[in-house]
Amino acid sequence: MDITKDLPQNITNLIEQHKYTGETDFDYLVGEGGYIPQSEDLLTDLIVAIAQGKNILLKGPTGSGKTKLAETLSSLFNQPLFSVNCSVDLDVESFVGFKTIDYQDGKQIIDYVPGPLVQAMKNGHFLYIDEINMAKPETLPVINGVLDYRRQITNPLTNEVIKAKEGFNVIAAINEGYIGTTRLNEALKNRFIVIDVSYLQGEQLKNLIKNNTNLNDEKLINQYVQLSHDLIAATQQGKVSEDAASIRALLDACDLSEMIPPKRAIRRAIVNKLEDDREQDVVQNLADMLFE
Ligand SMILES: Nc1ncnc2c1ncn2[C@@H]1O[C@H](COP(=O)(O)OP(=O)(O)O)[C@@H](O)[C@H]1O
Ligand SMILES: [Mg+2]
Repeated sequence: MDITKDLPQNITNLIEQHKYTGETDFDYLVGEGGYIPQSEDLLTDLIVAIAQGKNILLKGPTGSGKTKLAETLSSLFNQPLFSVNCSVDLDVESFVGFKTIDYQDGKQIIDYVPGPLVQAMKNGHFLYIDEINMAKPETLPVINGVLDYRRQITNPLTNEVIKAKEGFNVIAAINEGYIGTTRLNEALKNRFIVIDVSYLQGEQLKNLIKNNTNLNDEKLINQYVQLSHDLIAATQQGKVSEDAASIRALLDACDLSEMIPPKRAIRRAIVNKLEDDREQDVVQNLADMLFE
């Protein structure tokens, strides 16, 4: 599916003008695409912001397609996407790289292996910073430098001053769901264009299920669309934690339902992931009401 086909000409022109056409060793990091946008505006605004080199913050609950969206932008602009996940990659090294000891002609030398941030800046590619609200305070000076309009950092490992090459862009994501999560500090948020990403619903969700899962049964697909709607309502009311409404889990349940009864599929893909027994009951009851 070509998501750009209904965009106005001046917007598709922007993509052409800013598409990466040079040589790169990082072709394998160009995303596959596949994100279905909630609206044409969302896509237009993202393309404009990227073309203008703005920092982008994707804000939305878990499993709403933020990573998929970043990969799709990478694909549209043919830009390798380097990634850092702040909830996993905790130290400054995860951004800038590390030093190792190597041997050359029998002599010990210190080698430097550049990290994703350095690679993206030097080559003029994209950097995806996932769960940026989880970044440790010691990494903030580095992140701030990257987001600064000067696009320049001093590599703390090598003292090299790195200036981003044309084409470099930052796309960050934050799981700011319906139930409050760790907020992003205001000074940091200030540096971004913020794009709300929400769960696809209705017809759009139906299309996503049809295109991305094994499920073909029209009736079951409609029931799953309804289940998703009910699960989102339950998270908004605080009855179940946000993970229950993740589209990722819903798609898994749809896949399994091709072969096994939906209630069992839902138990495996959604219910059993919830830690709280009461939450499990809420979801199971919703499923029992919808499916035979
Ligand atoms: N709007 C969407 N378009 C395409 N795929 C989606 C969409 N929303 C969710 N998904 C699918 O749901 C799963 C989770 O998406 P992901 O990007 O990992 O979510 P997030 O990063 O927000 O947690 C992926 O398999 C993705 O393909
Ligand atoms: Mg993600």
